[in-house]
Amino acid sequence: MTSTRMEQTLDTTLTVNGTVVTRRIPARQHLIDFLREELGLTGSHAGCEHGVCGACTVRVDGRIVRGCLMLAVQADGRRVDTIEGLSDSREIEELQSAFVLTNALQCGFCTPGILIAAQALLRDQPDPSRERIREYLSGNYCRCTGYQAIVDAIEAVAKARAARAR
Ligand code: FES
Ligand code: FES
Repeated sequence: MTSTRMEQTLDTTLTVNGTVVTRRIPARQHLIDFLREELGLTGSHAGCEHGVCGACTVRVDGRIVRGCLMLAVQADGRRVDTIEGLSDSREIEELQSAFVLTNALQCGFCTPGILIAAQALLRDQPDPSRERIREYLSGNYCRCTGYQAIVDAIEAVAKARAARAR
């Protein structure tokens, strides 16, 4: 640990999208800012920066979190997955295709966070009702689409997966 009059930093090691990363991180830097500014992973967005809009959603040890509410140093020893990692691994490929097919995005600012949240929902609850999808996504704001097409896309993926499981 290094301490200066201006800023304290901490040696931090975390795994980001499968790659071990060690950095000396300012103690007060938020995870979203570390990912974007230090690692260049700009797919996750900083919107409200107050835990409201969901644009900064990432996964930490398999659970979705707000990157603007978690300090980067709190990720020490943990696994962080961003939209880049989930996209490269093709884990969310079906959702991404459904979003394109149903026009579930316009400016795309909210889309990475919504895709990560949707994947978490479908993992925990494979066949959610439309009401449940809306409820689950209530912490992810979209200024453009009116949500209808987003719910359509997620529902379509849920039904396709259910049909394949039969
Ligand atoms: S930027 Fe984190 S919830 Fe809005
Ligand atoms: S597509 Fe623009 S905020 Fe959702």
